Formats: sequence, C-alpha cells, structure tokens
Amino acid sequence: MTDVRTNGQCKHVFIRTYGCQMNVYDSDRMADVLRPLGYALIDTPERADLVVVNTCHIREHASEKVYSELGRLRDTKRERRAAGGDLTIAVAGCVAQAEGEEIVRRQPAVDIVVGPQAYHRLPELLAEAERKAAIRRAGRRLPGAGVLDTDFPAESKFDHLPAPQGVRAGSAFLSIQEGCDKFCTFCVVPYTRGAEYSRPASAVMTEARQLVTAGAVEITLLGQNVNAYHGDAGDGSTWSLARLIRALAEIDGLTRIRYTTSHPRDMDDELIAAHGTVPQLMPYLHLPVQAGSDRVLEAMNRRHGRDLFRRLVDRLREAQPELALSSDFIVGFPGESDADFDDTMRLVEEVGFASAFSFKYSRRPGTPGAALPGQVPEPVKAARLAALQALLGRQARDFNASKVGAVVPVLFAEPGRKPGQVVGKTPWLQSVYADGSPRLVGRIVDVRLTEGHANSLAGAIVAPAWETAA
Ligand code: SAH
Ligand code: SF4
Ligand code: F3S
Repeated sequence: MTDVRTNGQCKHVFIRTYGCQMNVYDSDRMADVLRPLGYALIDTPERADLVVVNTCHIREHASEKVYSELGRLRDTKRERRAAGGDLTIAVAGCVAQAEGEEIVRRQPAVDIVVGPQAYHRLPELLAEAERKAAIRRAGRRLPGAGVLDTDFPAESKFDHLPAPQGVRAGSAFLSIQEGCDKFCTFCVVPYTRGAEYSRPASAVMTEARQLVTAGAVEITLLGQNVNAYHGDAGDGSTWSLARLIRALAEIDGLTRIRYTTSHPRDMDDELIAAHGTVPQLMPYLHLPVQAGSDRVLEAMNRRHGRDLFRRLVDRLREAQPELALSSDFIVGFPGESDADFDDTMRLVEEVGFASAFSFKYSRRPGTPGAALPGQVPEPVKAARLAALQALLGRQARDFNASKVGAVVPVLFAEPGRKPGQVVGKTPWLQSVYADGSPRLVGRIVDVRLTEGHANSLAGAIVAPAWETAA
C-alpha cells in the first residue's frame, strides 16, 4: 500500500465493516473520500490515526458488538494520548443513524458519528473534530463531545462522492438504490437508511464503466430493495432494474452481472425474462422469503404469501432452468406456532435452495414487531433454527454435489489458505478451491469440479498450462 503524504505528513485510516454489502460498498467510498485528505487505508487499527467503525443495526447482537469495540478503541486512544499522540474515532453506518446520541453519551471517546447518507460530509466532520481536539489540547473545556451528523440530507451522497478507486480481484459492488419503504414489521432498515431512492441511470452507467476500466469483470448491483430500482433516465422516463441490466450487458469486458437484495413483490415480468435472455446475468438469485406461513408473512407485513413466492420461483426457473436460489429466513417471529414453522420447513423442501441465511427473530426497538404479543421463547427459536439450518445445509451440500464433474467458469478472488491454491466463485456463487497461480486472481478460468462439500467445492483448472503456471 502506498502512503499518501499531505504537507509532509502521512495519515492512516482503518475501516472496520459490519453488516451487509451496502456497508462494504460504503466503506470503500469513505476510503475514497478520505484519500484526498491524505489518509491511506491500512488493514489493522494499530497504526491508524483515524478508525471508522461502519456498523450494522439489523439484530441485537450486531449492535452490541459496536459498544465493546468502541470500549477497546477508547483504551487505545488513552494510551496514545498518554504517549503524546492521538486517535480519532468515527462511528458510521446503521447504529450511528439509529443511536447517534446514545453512542456519544455511552462512549465519550467517540469523535464523529456519521449516518449512512452523510458520508460525503466526512471532510467537514473531520475538520470540526480536529477543531474540538485543538480546543481540548489547549486545556479548555468543551460543551458536548463528538460531532454528530445523522440527518437525511436533501442532496444525495452519491452526487458528491468521488469516482471509485481500484477494483479488487475483478469484482466490484455498485450501489444503485438505497433505503426502503416496505416497513416489514421486524426490520430497522427503513429507519436507518431512510426512504427508497434510486440513482439516476446515467450515474450508474458512468460508475459501471469506470469500474470495468479499473478491472472489474463482475459487477454486483446493490440495494436494500434493488429490484424496486427506478432510475431517472434523463428523458422524463425511468429505467427498471431489467432495463439497466440490459444496458450494462452492452459494456465490453463486463462478463458477470449480479444483483442483491431483491424483494419478491418487485420481481416483475421484465426482470424474470432477463434471467433467460441476458447471458451476463448470473444464474443465481438471492430472494428473501423470511417464512413459509401466510399468517406469519402477513404479520411481518411482507405483502406476499407463500403462493406468490412459489409461483415466482416456477417462472424464474422456466426462464432460466440453471437458476440457483438463495434466501433469508427468520424463525420465531412473534406468534409463530409449530404449525407455522412447519410451513417454513415445507416451503424449503418444495423449493430447494442452493444456499441461505437464517436467523432467530431479534426484537428491535422501535419496530412494530417488538411490541407484538406472542414473543417466542429463546429455546423454541433455537430449536427451530437448528432444524431449519440442518435442512438448508443438506440442500446446499446436495446442490454442490450436483455440480461435481461439470466444467464451469470460475472467477478467482484470492489465494487459498494452502500455498499454491486459489479460491474463486462459480456462476452460482459457490466457492471453489483449485491448485493454481495467484496470477489467476481477477480472472475467469474454466475449472472441472471434482469434490462437493457443505460450503465449497474442490476443482482442477482445465485451462492450458502456459496460462496457469506459477
Ligand atoms: N432488504 C432485504 C433484507 C435486509 S436485512 C429484504 O427485504 O429481504 C437482511 C436480512 O436480515 C433479512 O432478510 C432478514 O432475514 C434478517 N433480519 C432483518 N431484521 C431482522 C430481525 N429483527 N431479526 C432477525 N433477522 C432479521
Ligand atoms: Fe427490511 Fe423489509 Fe425493507 Fe427488506 S423489504 S429492508 S426486510 S423492511
Ligand atoms: Fe445492517 Fe444497515 Fe445493512 S442494519 S444489514 S448495515 S442496511
């Protein structure tokens, strides 16, 4: 990593990222905002002048982790100050948005709290924090501690962020949509990320071209409800996600397109058709269903029943028979009975998932679900989660096993844990380990899949030896 020097000084920032891919994207963009201020990104907090904790509020466990991390950073800051140095601590992301005031109160060592829509204002916030630090160094008392910016600004951060710098291993995220108006009764996202917003189509196309020029062969379009995308086309009309995908498929050198996360209600005909007609659109779809019982889906305010989901899956598989499905599940939503949970198990058996994420319901303050009667006892949630995960695990293993013997294109992402090994992803987002040179990272290479496991596959590269030699 090259250090950036400003006025002869070199500063370092460490960014810790929790939560979803939107946060991963945002962390990269924060690094882009900080670079012109002289901050070089480093991958441990030890030498950092600035630490940014990009937080997630989705489940209780996720938010509590933030406070223990901030406690450790306060200790580091004290040690630094005792030695004549300093450390600036910034909290970003969804906990910052939801609990900004509380963070500043619970952890006075925090200098900056910045919500997800205000990252373009980081330079001003840092200047303000530095001004406060100078007053403190001069021995004067300050009213209030950290600098707080958790407004939902009128202007979009996307219009103010610099162009993305660098692409890791051929694959890039591109946020095209933020926020959510769906208000599922368990979920904090509409409160932490604000109202649904789609970036204009031209801005997305520009960023996609920049990413491809910087080496991306795969782009994953991101949004909390990415298939609700309706970007201003500049001529009075809007582009749907399907329209955008078709335009992206025209970009030379862009071989793989993915999108996540979608909502079943926003899966329109055009998007379903795109799965059959756009070869760059990978045959993999993450489509959260949450539960299999209509009663629970209704209480969750999901605005779809199990039948709609089943019909969608049938139509998607008709359009693209190779499609692998992934989903999210919540067990133990308030009022979920044994019979309701059986409906979830049956739905999973009927649909068959290649992979999935499943969670115990976590009561989130301020969401309607938190106040519902019939909260499910912890041991019941734990037992249901174990049963569901056993079933989903079997399905993932079976899916991986079904690909053994096939030759598939793998995008190599990083060197493996063992020397001489590289790891990459199949079109279905399975991890594949193969013997090969680290020079393959960022490239798509044909691999014969030889062994299927629970979470990965082993394979052998079938490309010519001169291409793969170390
Ligand atoms: N926008 C996406 C998901 C966002 S959150 C969608 O609409 O599906 C990612 C996942 O976290 C959700 O799909 C859900 O399964 C889980 N989740 C959200 N809130 C939760 C809560 N309170 N308890 C447990 N899991 C939750
Ligand atoms: Fe949360 Fe529901 Fe919006 Fe997804 S659709 S982000 S689960 S409120
Ligand atoms: Fe977490 Fe916020 Fe993403 S709550 S899951 S980081 S949108």
